Amino acid sequence: MDVLEALNTRRSIRSYTDKEISEAVLYDLCKAGMTAPSAGNQQPWHFIVTRNKEIMQRFADFHPYAKMLMQAAAAIIVCGDDRNLRYGDYWVQDCSAATQNILLAAHAMGLGAVWLGVFPRPERVDKTAALFGLPEGVLPLCCVSLGYPAEQKDPSDRYYPDRIHMDRW
Ligand SMILES: Cc1cc2nc3c(=O)[nH]c(=O)nc-3n(C[C@H](O)[C@H](O)[C@H](O)COP(=O)(O)O)c2cc1C
Repeated sequence: MDVLEALNTRRSIRSYTDKEISEAVLYDLCKAGMTAPSAGNQQPWHFIVTRNKEIMQRFADFHPYAKMLMQAAAAIIVCGDDRNLRYGDYWVQDCSAATQNILLAAHAMGLGAVWLGVFPRPERVDKTAALFGLPEGVLPLCCVSLGYPAEQKDPSDRYYPDRIHMDRW
């Protein structure tokens, strides 16, 4: 699958089969995340990878839109290490780029995935930090729920030419 096909056919997948995801595949997903661009190439990301059902259940218990995690084979918590960054206020963009890379790589590898927002909701940030034992200054951006897909979705056409402004608005 080339990159344009991946972009055009990726959808959020929230229903999964029982098939496990190998550790090698999870490392490949994190590696895809680490190829993202970042401000000043500061690469502030850390990835917490879990296949632990109890941990995923505990996340789903406090996150209002994460019930699919109870079926998921794995999850990756994308975190930004905000300590000693030269361009600290860019960590959200940096980690968002990494997250999108993970979503696209998962899709290209035949997995289903969905981005579950954590930052900037204070309660979700605090509970995620406590659940995963994050050090002070390391902030969770989101959780990516992962599994082999048990649902298929058509591509969604979101092309609106009137959103494009040439030279000026
Ligand atoms: C910042 C962000 C937060 C999101 N949070 C959630 C979430 O908490 N739960 C969920 O099921 N989907 C979540 N999504 C997925 C969106 O609902 C989804 O991307 C959107 O509806 C478009 O659908 P698509 O991904 O299938 O193209 C989130 C997406 C983004 C970018």
